[in-house]
Amino acid sequence: MNTSSMKKPYYIHDTVLVINLGGQYAHLIMRRVRELGIYSELLDYNELSKDIIEDIKPKAIILSGGPSSVYEPDAPTIPTWVFNLNIPILGICYGFQLISYLMGGIVTRGKGEYGRTKISIVEKDPLFSGWSEEEIVWMSHNDRLEVLPKDLKLLAVSENGYIAAFRHREKPIYGVQFHPEVKHTVKGKVLLKNFLIDITGIKPSWRPTDFINDLIEYIRRTVKDKKVLVAVSGGVDSTVTAVLIRKAIGEAKIVPVFINTGLLRENEVNEVLKNLELLGIKPLVVDASEEFLNALKDVDDCEEKRRVISRIYAEILEEIMRKDKDIEWIAQGTTYPDIVESGAVRGSDRIKSHHNVAGLPRTLRSKVIEPLKYFYKDEVRKIGLKLGIPEDIIYRHPFPGPGLAIRVIGRVTREKLSIVRRASKIVEEELYKAGLYHQVWQAFAVVGDDMWVGVKGDKRAIGRIIIVRIVESEDAMTADWARIPYEVLDRISRRITNEIPSVTMVAYSITTKPPSTIEPC
Ligand code: XMP
Repeated sequence: MNTSSMKKPYYIHDTVLVINLGGQYAHLIMRRVRELGIYSELLDYNELSKDIIEDIKPKAIILSGGPSSVYEPDAPTIPTWVFNLNIPILGICYGFQLISYLMGGIVTRGKGEYGRTKISIVEKDPLFSGWSEEEIVWMSHNDRLEVLPKDLKLLAVSENGYIAAFRHREKPIYGVQFHPEVKHTVKGKVLLKNFLIDITGIKPSWRPTDFINDLIEYIRRTVKDKKVLVAVSGGVDSTVTAVLIRKAIGEAKIVPVFINTGLLRENEVNEVLKNLELLGIKPLVVDASEEFLNALKDVDDCEEKRRVISRIYAEILEEIMRKDKDIEWIAQGTTYPDIVESGAVRGSDRIKSHHNVAGLPRTLRSKVIEPLKYFYKDEVRKIGLKLGIPEDIIYRHPFPGPGLAIRVIGRVTREKLSIVRRASKIVEEELYKAGLYHQVWQAFAVVGDDMWVGVKGDKRAIGRIIIVRIVESEDAMTADWARIPYEVLDRISRRITNEIPSVTMVAYSITTKPPSTIEPC
């Protein structure tokens, strides 16, 4: 799937198109735009065509940053006809350099600026409305724009005397060398608002919860009178999906299925079934734990684990569909970052083949409905709350489809599963007790095969190492390790070594994403 096949449903209006020129910040731009109440979509620069512009009808275009130099042979670029569409354009960092380069400016290699930098506004412009003459911004560029082409006018310079912002003399085309989407650019959000609302004239109308009725209508129109199988996991995305589908087509037409993979957390099956029952969803429960564990027994590699799990998962769903010929659709709780991180949006690197997207065989995929695929997790949560789903479910931490299989490094054995299950429970319990569970994005334990020598009861004991990972995040695209008070970490560590005799060491992960990912594999 690529973005062009991800046709926008009819209910989405005023779109800002973010063109990804290879930067790690493109997603952040999207989020900031949506925070302003404006819908945005990401498109790889390779995909930009007149047809897509005609299809999306963007009100404004933002060109992202990127690590390239405009002089590299395969440097990302855009066709110059984009400048004649009379659609307001804002180039950020590499996007800023690209616009001026394509218009005849001179970019110099290897003279960059990094981190917090002061800039001075030298020409009043609505783009900087609400900014003081001097402001702190976030820079991260190797090349710099040395000479502006004649069509562009200087708006701001940095403390190093470099060109920091320009605008076109006649057209609504702007560029900033710094990153307004990054929080360290103190008035970055004001600048984006100035560009999108004041200059472009977009009226903010993107409130995910306003679209519930439209989403329901969209599901009805798509699946018509056919039955829809919904694979539920108890997680936010699949629960919200199931509630939407149920509202759209009624109890008789929805076939909720809960698969016990044997890779779930302690007591999870019972808890999930109880929660779903509160919402009037009574899934068919398939206990396939033996099958999953057998199939995984010789698998070390993470992506292979995902493939094995996806295959069995899909076989079970296919089997259910074979038995009930009225089922024509499968609903999945895929969200926007799932699509991007799986590399399903072209130009975004495939980081992990997230189960939600890659999990189904091609034969089934044409019949998959993913009503949440335009939304971020926080938006899905807002929709869920509006649908009346209890907060306990809405604010559960995300749990990956392949479950504990990817929190066990190396082979998945029953012993390692049982260790990681107990340790994770302890982590969650202690966070709840300390009132911290809902303040973090995810919190769990990981176990691998490395061993640590310990002393238990005055005897030398060789035991397992547990890594505790607790992260804060907005949408899982980036994450920071949570600064949990030492006393809480201490309790977690003591309980794990006391309650799980085979563990002799507990370590706390202090790596952000990037460069790490949230899950260990
Ligand atoms: P990473 O580890 O890539 O995770 O930083 C980002 C978010 O995605 C979740 N995740 C998965 N979810 N299937 C899923 O359904 C997967 O294979 C998978 N891998 C990671 C992860 O828990 C985090 O919230």
